[in-house]
Amino acid sequence: MSVALIILAAGKGTRMNSDLPKVLHPIGGAPMLHHAMRAGAALEPAHTVVVAGYGADAVRRAALAFDDEAAVVVQEEQLGTAHAAAQARQALAGFEGRAIVLFGDTPFVRPETLEALRDASADISVLGFEAADPARYGRLVMEGDQLQRIVEFKDASEAERAITLCNSGVLAAPAPLLFDLIGEVNKDNVQGEYYLTDLPRLARARGLDVAVVRCAEAETLGINSRAELAGAEAQFQAAARAALLEDGVTLAAPDTVVLSLDTNIGRDTLIEPNVVFGPGVSVESGATIRAFSHLEGCHVSRGAIVGPYARLRPGAELAEDVRVGNFVEIKNATLAPGAKVNHLSYIGDASIGAGSNIGAGTITCNYDGVMKHFTHVGERVFIGSNTMLVAPVSIGNEAMTGSGSVITSDVEAGALALARAPQVEKPGMARKLMDMLRARKARQGRGS
Ligand code: UD1
Ligand code: MG
Repeated sequence: MSVALIILAAGKGTRMNSDLPKVLHPIGGAPMLHHAMRAGAALEPAHTVVVAGYGADAVRRAALAFDDEAAVVVQEEQLGTAHAAAQARQALAGFEGRAIVLFGDTPFVRPETLEALRDASADISVLGFEAADPARYGRLVMEGDQLQRIVEFKDASEAERAITLCNSGVLAAPAPLLFDLIGEVNKDNVQGEYYLTDLPRLARARGLDVAVVRCAEAETLGINSRAELAGAEAQFQAAARAALLEDGVTLAAPDTVVLSLDTNIGRDTLIEPNVVFGPGVSVESGATIRAFSHLEGCHVSRGAIVGPYARLRPGAELAEDVRVGNFVEIKNATLAPGAKVNHLSYIGDASIGAGSNIGAGTITCNYDGVMKHFTHVGERVFIGSNTMLVAPVSIGNEAMTGSGSVITSDVEAGALALARAPQVEKPGMARKLMDMLRARKARQGRGS
């Protein structure tokens, strides 16, 4: 069955107390909006329409970053959820399939749940849940298996507030019916808004079938405040860790590992405590990420060992059996199989050939204050400790640099490059100097 998604993301999110539109606040390193779009994408929708409003340009960029075929429409004034859904009318003109309305601030809906909603036979199906603490959610007023109406918390009587079956905000209906019913919604309610939640009542008045599809409360968590955002982050992290464990990844201390929505880790990889995975990380099977490492926008191949205390920044590409040790930062650099950068180094804008060893304290000096330059290190190269590789510079295969060298010109294959002051030795001078200094101190002591 052909499906269209309408994702409502125009609200400012007043209760977030933020300049950033609510739907762009991150959960698992990705804007909340991406979570909803990802769940919906599993239905392979014919159309995805994102309704932006507050901070529309930023919301458009985020929506297109996830799906460059999404249509982004703008709700100029936030007059309510029904008014927001109505903005998708043009984008879905002529579409006869089922429209599913999702909220950009409800990130955890599962694809399976959306499928159940799509496949429900009623004219309108609403996703509901039993709330442990119904708080401000809209309440679902049932009569038998028909949903009679949804009443918003602010409009609800005491008796209605006692209802624990709540509205997730997600609903599905044939697109033409949806827009037709929205045309009848008025703003006769406490908030003076056009409520999408009026649809069930309007549909029942026409004698249509309105069903509730139920899901677990955790799926429908709506985020309206920073406290709820923090709770959602915790919920995301717990689920993402559990999924990794299930997939055969070892997490030595699961509660201390931070994951992103797109983190991808292979089986039999070991993740030690306190590792942070920012967006865009993939780690193959059988790698080890040791404690306190921070990874972002990088790829780690099979058999590689990273950390403890390593930082992999965007563009770090580690081939098989690479070693990146403590206090090493890698950015936009490829390390070929078996390369080692074990201690206290910065490797940025570089390629390191297979089997090369980068000594402790080595730095690729990639930035001249204006531009970035590249460092090529060949295969089986030995870079001495504390070498400054002043880019652009290229080191040939099997070359060496002496410790403490400042390498400003290319080094040919097989050569040893030394670029440091030669050592000078003065016999007896150390003792003489110390005697002189001690005598001076003794004289000063008497003087004071
Ligand atoms: C809504 C539901 C409530 C449900 C709850 C679940 C309505 C009237 N109420 O309340 O029944 O229990 O979600 O989380 O639908 N939005 C727009 N344009 C607008 C208004 C809102 O795009 O003019 C978007 C928001 O960005 C947000 C979503 O719609 O993504 C929901 O709006 P929000 O104000 O959070 O509604 P709730 O009060 O949470
Ligand atoms: Mg909400």
